[in-house]
Amino acid sequence: MTNIAISAKGLIVKKGKQCILNELDFVVKSGTVTGLIGPSGSGKTTLMRSIIGVQKCKGELSVLGNPAGHKSLRKSIGYVTQSPAVYPDLTVQQNLRYFATLVRSDKMDVKRVIDTVRLTDQRNQVAGSLSGGQMARVSLAVALLGRPELLVLDEPTVGLDPVLRNELWDLFAELASEGRTLLISSHVMDEAARCENLLLLRDGKLLWKDSLKKLLAATKKNDVGGAFVTMINAAEKAEKMGKK
Ligand SMILES: Nc1ncnc2c1ncn2[C@@H]1O[C@H](COP(=O)(O)OP(=O)(O)OP(=O)(O)O)[C@@H](O)[C@H]1O
Ligand SMILES: [Mg+2]
Repeated sequence: MTNIAISAKGLIVKKGKQCILNELDFVVKSGTVTGLIGPSGSGKTTLMRSIIGVQKCKGELSVLGNPAGHKSLRKSIGYVTQSPAVYPDLTVQQNLRYFATLVRSDKMDVKRVIDTVRLTDQRNQVAGSLSGGQMARVSLAVALLGRPELLVLDEPTVGLDPVLRNELWDLFAELASEGRTLLISSHVMDEAARCENLLLLRDGKLLWKDSLKKLLAATKKNDVGGAFVTMINAAEKAEKMGKK
C-alpha cells in the first residue's frame, strides 16, 4: 500500500487567460492532517475541486492511486464545501438519512456519524435552528458517511469562535488517528499550528509544502503568520530578481 494519498505534478488550472493554479507539485501523505493555508483568492477551493474531480485541470493529479475524478474515487472521498450544503428545514437525522441514500449507506452509518460529531442530542432538531458550530459538524457528518479514506474540508471552521474551532480541530485529529487523510483549508494562520504538514498557497503558487516544524525552523519564526510573511517576502524578492 502506498503512503501517498494525493500527488500533483505540474498541476495547472486556467480560467480564461488567468492562471489560477500555477504548476503545482506536491504530495499529501496518507493518515496525516495537511493544512491548505492561503489568503482569500489564492486558489484553495480551486485546488480542492481539482482533487475531488470537478475542476478541469492540466498536469498530473493522482488521488488514492487513481487519476482525480476517476469513478472508483466516488466513495473514497468525503468533501465539505465552503458553504453549508445541508437542508435547513430537515432535522439532523433526516439530512443524514437523505445523504446516506445518495452514497448507499445505511441507518447504522447515520447513527455512527452523528455520534462521531457529537450531535446525538440534537439529532431531531431542524438544521436551520442549530448553532454555527453544530451546523459545521452536520456538514462534517455528511462527509463521513460511508467511511471515506480521504476527507477534503473547505474552510470547515470559518465563522466559528476560537473555542468551537479548537473542538473541531480535536475531532479532525481524532479522525486522522483512525488512519484517515485530511486536507483542510483555512485562511486563519493559527489553525495551521494544528496541522502536521502545510501547503501554503499564494496567487496560485505554493510557497511551502512540508511540515510545520520545518517551516518554523527555516524561517526562524515561532508562529505560522510570521513564517508566512517571511515566505511571501522571499518569494517577492525572488520574483523581482527574476524580472531584472
Ligand atoms: N469560475 C471562475 N471564473 C473566473 N475566475 C474564477 C472562477 N472561480 C474562481 N476564480 C478565481 O480564481 C481565484 C482563486 O479562487 P478560489 O475560490 O480557488 O480561492 P480561495 O483561496 O478558495 O479563496 P477564499 O478563501 O475566498 O475561499 C480567484 O482569483 C477567483 O476570482
Ligand atoms: Mg475558497
